This record gives sequence, C-alpha cells and structure tokens, in this order.
Amino acid sequence: MEDLASFIRGIPKAELHIHIEGSLEPEMAFALARKHGLALGYPSAEALRRAYDFRDLQSFLDLYYAGAAVLRDAEDFYLLTRAYLERARADGVVHAEIFFDPQTHTQRGVPMMSVIEGIGAALHAAEGDLGMSSRLILCFLRHLPEDDAERTLDEALRWRDQLCAVGLDSSEKGHPPAKFARVFQRARAEGLEAVAHAGEEGPPAYIREALDLLKVSRIDHGVRCLEDPALVERLAREKVPLTVCPLSNVKLRVFPRLEEHNLKRLMQAGLTVTVNSDDPAYFGGYIGENFGACQRALGLGREDIRRLAQDSIAASFLPEHDKAQWLERIRTFDDRPRPS
Ligand code: HPA
Ligand code: ZN
Repeated sequence: MEDLASFIRGIPKAELHIHIEGSLEPEMAFALARKHGLALGYPSAEALRRAYDFRDLQSFLDLYYAGAAVLRDAEDFYLLTRAYLERARADGVVHAEIFFDPQTHTQRGVPMMSVIEGIGAALHAAEGDLGMSSRLILCFLRHLPEDDAERTLDEALRWRDQLCAVGLDSSEKGHPPAKFARVFQRARAEGLEAVAHAGEEGPPAYIREALDLLKVSRIDHGVRCLEDPALVERLAREKVPLTVCPLSNVKLRVFPRLEEHNLKRLMQAGLTVTVNSDDPAYFGGYIGENFGACQRALGLGREDIRRLAQDSIAASFLPEHDKAQWLERIRTFDDRPRPS
C-alpha cells in the first residue's frame, strides 16, 4: 500500500470534534496536580496512561471527569489549549472548532471566566503565531438536568462573542436530545449555531431528534445512522455533516476493530464525513493518527483523504470566502515533487 503519511500530514484540514479537556495528556495532568498540590491516585503518568482501557462511553467519562479536576485556573486552560493547538498544527490542522464543558468546571467552583478566558487567550495567540483559525463550542452535559444547562447558558452569554455554537455531550443513553430542546432554542435565538453528539452509543432516533428538535447543523459521531436507511438518505439530501472519531469508536467499543469501522460506508452513502480525534489524550492519537490508522485499516487512497479534508472545511463554521480558499488549496494539494 502507498505510504500516504506525508500527504495526510500536509493536506490542510479542519478538526471539528475535539473536547479540549480530552487533550489533557497524563504528563500535563501530573504537572498541574503538582502545581495545585493535588493527588491523582496513580504513581506516574505511565501508570495513568495504562488505566486508559475502557468498556464503553461511561467508563471513559468517569476517568475523563476525574482527570479534569487538575484544571483550576486560567493559566491551566491556556496551557492545555496551547498544547492541543501546537499538536494539531503539526498534523496539518488549519482550523479547529473546539468543545469545552463549562459545567465540569463550574461544579467544582472554577469560575467560568477562568475557563473561557484561558482557552480564548490560547486561541487568539494561535491565530497569530500558528496561523490557525478557531471557534469555541460550549457543550452542555446531558446527564445533568436542562435547568443546569439553562443557567450555564445564561452565564456564558457574558462571553457571547467568543462562542460560535452550543453542543451536547456526556452519557448519551437515556438522555435524548429532546431533554434539551428549550435551552437549544434559546441558544439559537442568540444567534449561536447548534451541534449535538448523537448516534455514538444511542439509537438513530436520537439523530432524528437532534435534527428536528435541536435544529443542529452537524451531528457529532452519528455512526449508528447506517441502521436507518431513510435517515441516511435524509442526512445526504440535507448535507448534514457527521464528525466521526474512528479511534474513539474503537476505544469505547462502538466497533470491535478499526477494520470494521463504517467510515468508508458512510462516505459511499454520499454523506459529508469528517475525521476527528474526540479525546486524543485518552484514545491513542490526534487527528493525524486517526487519518493514518483509517488509511491503513480501511485502505483509503489519496483521493479519499482529499475528500475527507474537503468535507472538514465544507462542514466547518468558517465564512464562505475562507472555505473557498481552503477548498482550492486542498483541490490542488500534492506532496510529491513535480516531475521536471
Ligand atoms: N461522547 C460523549 N461525551 C464526550 C465524549 C464522547 O465521545 N468525549 C467527551 N465527552
Ligand atoms: Zn465527542
């Protein structure tokens, strides 16, 4: 098989499904725990990394929320975000739309200002010195009541101009999108875009609910849509992008092995499909590793990679003018030396 590593790394792409708290590497968790005088319950970063063996979404979320406890001040959120952006830039990411979970932090007494201003400062710096654009997406935790999401939205609107969209994450089963219809309606009335995790562990019906009740413009994960052919047809017709996270899906046992992942079938069904890292520190790789592993396991070719990169830009919330410029760069991208 052709080695596409440098093509994958070089082609411009957007990352649209990354939880910033999920980019907390064990080494940084230990450094921040030391800074704040906290105990992590593991003897070393290596031991913590070895504990990343998950049965399902919930077993991951338990560790993910525990890990986030070391994030306490604006500097922590700055360092976390900066490390992610540098890593993503090395993988050819030119634009990132980043999720954050304010409730995970405000529940622990961390002011929302520390979270948003710390992340925001890193995004602003990367615009200058890494040449990366970005957006911030506020996710509501779906295992909490809608009231809590409503209060979170009220507070976050102080930073309205730093936010692009609202999203919905955490434990999917038993927490259908319908539970958040009112808070999403209010967010959209404020001019925010909407996205939601659906069809990761939950049924295709949750994808329909996210479209009909939350009026989302993208579905995060969405891989279970293939169980419902009429839904697939609708997603294709309405050009609703899916932000797929292949290594995450294997780690959380949505698919037993990457070779059995339905990424290629989603593409063949005419859907707008993007490849993303979800929680790269926990799932064994950033976006480059996700592309590389899929390329090898599913036999993706150069033009499949190009299409995934095009779809990532098309599915983003960038203005049309910026999209057109990146799409042209992707269309003509070639990592091989020109024959002379
Ligand atoms: N699914 C739901 N919630 C999450 C995830 C995920 O993959 N990652 C972080 N929060
Ligand atoms: Zn996710």
